[in-house]
Amino acid sequence: MRTQVGIIGAGPAGLFLAHLLHRAGIGSVILESRSREDVEGTVRAGVLEHWVVGLMNELGLGERMMREGHFHTGISLQWNGERHHVDIQELTDGKRVAVYPQHEVLKDLIAGRLADGGTIIFGVSGTTIRGVDTDAPAIDFRRAPDGAVETLACDYVVGADGFHGPGRQTIPSAHRTEYQKIYPFGWLGILTHAPLSWHELIYANQHDGFALMSTRTPDVQRMYIQCDPADDIAAWSDARIWDALHARLDIGDGWTLHEGPIFQKGIIPLRSFVCEPMQYGRLFIAGDAAHIVPPTGAKGLNLAVADVLVLSRALEARYKRNIRDGLDRYSANCLRRVWKAERFSWYMTTMLHRNDTETGFEQRIHFADLDLVRTSPTAARLLAENYVGLPFD
Ligand code: FAD
Ligand code: PHB
Repeated sequence: MRTQVGIIGAGPAGLFLAHLLHRAGIGSVILESRSREDVEGTVRAGVLEHWVVGLMNELGLGERMMREGHFHTGISLQWNGERHHVDIQELTDGKRVAVYPQHEVLKDLIAGRLADGGTIIFGVSGTTIRGVDTDAPAIDFRRAPDGAVETLACDYVVGADGFHGPGRQTIPSAHRTEYQKIYPFGWLGILTHAPLSWHELIYANQHDGFALMSTRTPDVQRMYIQCDPADDIAAWSDARIWDALHARLDIGDGWTLHEGPIFQKGIIPLRSFVCEPMQYGRLFIAGDAAHIVPPTGAKGLNLAVADVLVLSRALEARYKRNIRDGLDRYSANCLRRVWKAERFSWYMTTMLHRNDTETGFEQRIHFADLDLVRTSPTAARLLAENYVGLPFD
């Protein structure tokens, strides 16, 4: 098998890249280790930056998002029993975000790619990247665990294979530097059959820590609470989860958080991670393969799409005009945006969580940061510009 760009991973990075390359007349094949059902059923991120909404529409993939997504013009920040509206639209000259879950985005991208005649091979195993420091790189894989080894020969390999994939590991360790911060808390996320309790997302740091109220549909709500990342999910009964949500979200003014049956729950750890550089020879890594942000800034998915937008432009210049400059500068170009998203995600995370390893001094600084957003239009605008998606250089 041969293609121009061999892509590992059918997550947001791999699928957006395949669409962008197709639009530019460049061929690609995606190899994905999970089944289509698994990819389309995994609950992850929820918020799309304004330009990702625009890109979905430009690619002809936005119809269901425009119909079923929720467009939010602000967020609420809450601490000490008080809730404050941050008017994102007003602070960013009219921009807004969409709450449209990642797995719905992936369903639209997969259906669109297959309708265009694109190739996505699901359920592969033994993915091995070869020869990225030669002119003839390739990816070996099996369609089934006991199947024969097949080879995808390509001009370029893209590791869009998430944090645990082989992409990043293929960059020799002497050629990469990894920066990491592990937070001493995780998120317990739930899905509940309940009506909407508030018209926008609420990010709260109250009582004993963080809570986030997000949404999925008018009848299904997504909520998160800070917990110990080592906690056993069995220790969190539904009653304990609702108690924590009430303690962190109620404001004592008659507003009530609507409860409902919880039909999904799980715990994720929180980390910040960056690998520099994001390329080696003919290998480029994108999205979670190269960097992780804690989800408090809602940046993970958006950053993955930003990487592949930069990469698709560089590949287009290479194939159409034989200009290699963009490919040479891929990592440097991406990392400027990546570090700003890392900064914002770290800022939102430290400001909104209770960290008992910090001193009382540091904890009070975080509440001062929150109060600055309430009182300073400059601080509020900085938060809003980052939340809605920074402009590209
Ligand atoms: P991924 O979505 O991880 O896609 C990589 C794909 O590569 C996967 O489908 C994987 O199966 C495949 N793959 C891996 N190894 C191989 C291999 N060897 N061969 C073939 N295929 C392979 N972000 C937010 O903003 N808000 C959130 O609430 C949020 N919640 C999250 C919850 C969880 C549990 C996780 C893991 C992430 C969450 N994120 C969240 C982050 C966001 O979902 C990611 O940033 C986003 O998925 C990154 O997209 P990606 O395409 O880079 O990687
Ligand atoms: C979500 O809806 O899953 C979501 C929303 C905002 C975040 C993180 C997750 O910051």
